[in-house]
Amino acid sequence: MTTTQTPIDPLDVQPTPLALLLLGRESDPRSERGVDCPGDLPAPSDPDLVERARAAKARLGSKVFILGHHYQRDEVIEFADVTGDSFKLARDAAAAPDAEYIVFCGVHFMAESADILTSDRQQVILPDLAAGCSMADMATAEQVAECWDVLTEAGVADTVVPVSYMNSSADIKAFTGRHGGTICTSSNARRALEWAFSKGEKVLFLPDQHLGRNTAVREMGFSLEDCVVYNPHKPGGGLTAEELRAAKMILWRGHCSVHGRFSLDSVEDVRARIPGVNVLVHPECKHEVVSAADHVGSTEHIIKMLDEAPAGSSWAIGTELNLVRRLAKAHPDKTIVFLDRTVCFCSTMNRIDLPHLVWALESLADGKPVNRIQVDAETEHFAKLALEQMLALP
Ligand code: 13P
Ligand code: SF4
Repeated sequence: MTTTQTPIDPLDVQPTPLALLLLGRESDPRSERGVDCPGDLPAPSDPDLVERARAAKARLGSKVFILGHHYQRDEVIEFADVTGDSFKLARDAAAAPDAEYIVFCGVHFMAESADILTSDRQQVILPDLAAGCSMADMATAEQVAECWDVLTEAGVADTVVPVSYMNSSADIKAFTGRHGGTICTSSNARRALEWAFSKGEKVLFLPDQHLGRNTAVREMGFSLEDCVVYNPHKPGGGLTAEELRAAKMILWRGHCSVHGRFSLDSVEDVRARIPGVNVLVHPECKHEVVSAADHVGSTEHIIKMLDEAPAGSSWAIGTELNLVRRLAKAHPDKTIVFLDRTVCFCSTMNRIDLPHLVWALESLADGKPVNRIQVDAETEHFAKLALEQMLALP
């Protein structure tokens, strides 16, 4: 008996029932969610946007270096001098000392890190100030200072090394540097934790509980019982001194609103729809999703795995949709689908669009920089210690 298979459409995803992530409308300048963007933006319908972006970039020449995170829109990625995950882009920013302007097509914490790693002579520009990150917003400097007091009262602070995910504000990175810790990304989380455990007995992992738990349990042999979750909205983090003393990994109660949407159901559903499918997910996904997946890795790792995958193989990818769409287009010989049935863009990454990019580039070419991201000197000093520690990890 032969069966006719319906071709699988990687974009076979339904609109999200609720407007996805209501971010970017706030006006709290301390929030990673950013502020409304000032400026006279070109209309999205302007048919000359691509030409205008090209012309402004050409006028700027080697003065400008454009970095594009893998989750950016196609229309923006087209103008990036380099693309990468947050680790690669941090290194690329640090390795471009001749560019006067670094235009960061990503989110606010990435632009802050680029400002910290580049010289004072260089200006880092974020084309839309409302491009923040909901995960980074889940750990504020005040909450983290309070957490440290809780750890001190429980008598464990001296044994704790903070490890903060790149997806955190410059304030949190500075806290990490002040307390002898390191930054990590999803590409080097294991190396960062190994380094931290060679320096202390416990790790305070900020702000993504899932990356912390997945790395410790999946890759380093810790048990789920070795991990506790510190909830900044509860007195004492919702933990007893006894629990803090027994824990190895103290995980901050934060998560990515995009990767947190993937569920065990989405894994089971795709396995039923596509026999033999390989499920490949980002470590920001929940532990149950990562445990049910076949492979786990950072965005760079996901790209590499698909490049190397044999023709005819099938893949369901649990990461941001802009990247999955591009990967599906780049590999027509493989079946590449989005792990969820529901549209799941990162709405703040998506805020950087062609009108904002054109506006930022034309303003720079006219000698009027806009949306400069500048970290104050003291925060920069301590955040840099933690970032440099990451770049020096063995
Ligand atoms: P990486 O770039 O480290 O893979 O992280 C993914 C992410 O969520 C960036 O915001
Ligand atoms: Fe933040 Fe998640 Fe968006 Fe990355 S994908 S910027 S962690 S909300």
